[in-house]
Amino acid sequence: MTKLIHDIGGLTREPGVVRAFVPTMGALHQGHLDLVDASRALVGPGGQVIVSIFVNPTQFGNETDVSQYPRTLESDFAQCEASGVDIVFAPSVSEMYPGGTQTSQYVSVQPGPLGSILEGVDRPGHFAGMLTIVAKLLNLVQPNFAAFGEKDYQQLALISHMVQQLNFPVKVVGVQTRREPDGLAMSSRNTFLIPEQRTEAASISRALFAAQAVEGNIDAKLSAARDALSAQITTSYLVAMTPDLSRELVGTENATQGRILFAGLLGSTRLIDNVPLGGVNPDE
Ligand code: PAF
Repeated sequence: MTKLIHDIGGLTREPGVVRAFVPTMGALHQGHLDLVDASRALVGPGGQVIVSIFVNPTQFGNETDVSQYPRTLESDFAQCEASGVDIVFAPSVSEMYPGGTQTSQYVSVQPGPLGSILEGVDRPGHFAGMLTIVAKLLNLVQPNFAAFGEKDYQQLALISHMVQQLNFPVKVVGVQTRREPDGLAMSSRNTFLIPEQRTEAASISRALFAAQAVEGNIDAKLSAARDALSAQITTSYLVAMTPDLSRELVGTENATQGRILFAGLLGSTRLIDNVPLGGVNPDE
């Protein structure tokens, strides 16, 4: 039976139980349930899988974005129950930020240089808010494993850095992006797309797959991607980077390992996606 917990006190860990943790902001889809399945595979039937559902205000740019984020706790809980989750932790904002959510009111985790590229350019403060809540949740849940989707590749890289550099005793696990039949990466934001936009959105994954398929240098790959993108999408970035995002791959480089990352606006909805540079990366 799945337990629904709203208070931090309910998370107390029984000794000897292996825990895997899936932090989410709710509006769950199959991509989240893949994280749950990967978590169950890690801890086995005797372990605990914990899902948190918390729309974290400190990682949003403004109040409107936070208030418009879908909140679907009842159906999220039902999906967790059907997937064999042991505990759903759905705290209130005041439970997580008792001193308030203004940056002057709480201690935060700063992302360092990796936080100011790609998503960090258009979303200042986003990664500090995201890392802060993930750090708090990891400290509360004290899991052995924590699973995150590769769809938010920069987020995954930053959480891996935080865990390594701040010595959190948890293993971070990345899980492959789940896609709709037409290739669009699953995301809670897809629900904001009107039907015509939803059709155009599929050009993002087509573009990334086109780049992957090109047997050439980085320029050739990125140019194939640009050609496949819908004209209705305004690109924020379309870049190739090393797998750890420490360096942009450019021009005539013939790299075999890396990631192609995209972000853009379709109407007012920001969509992101990424793929390994040449199909499956042996080191990822
Ligand atoms: O990816 C998300 O849903 C959020 O950024 C996370 C990791 C749950 C932190 O709020």
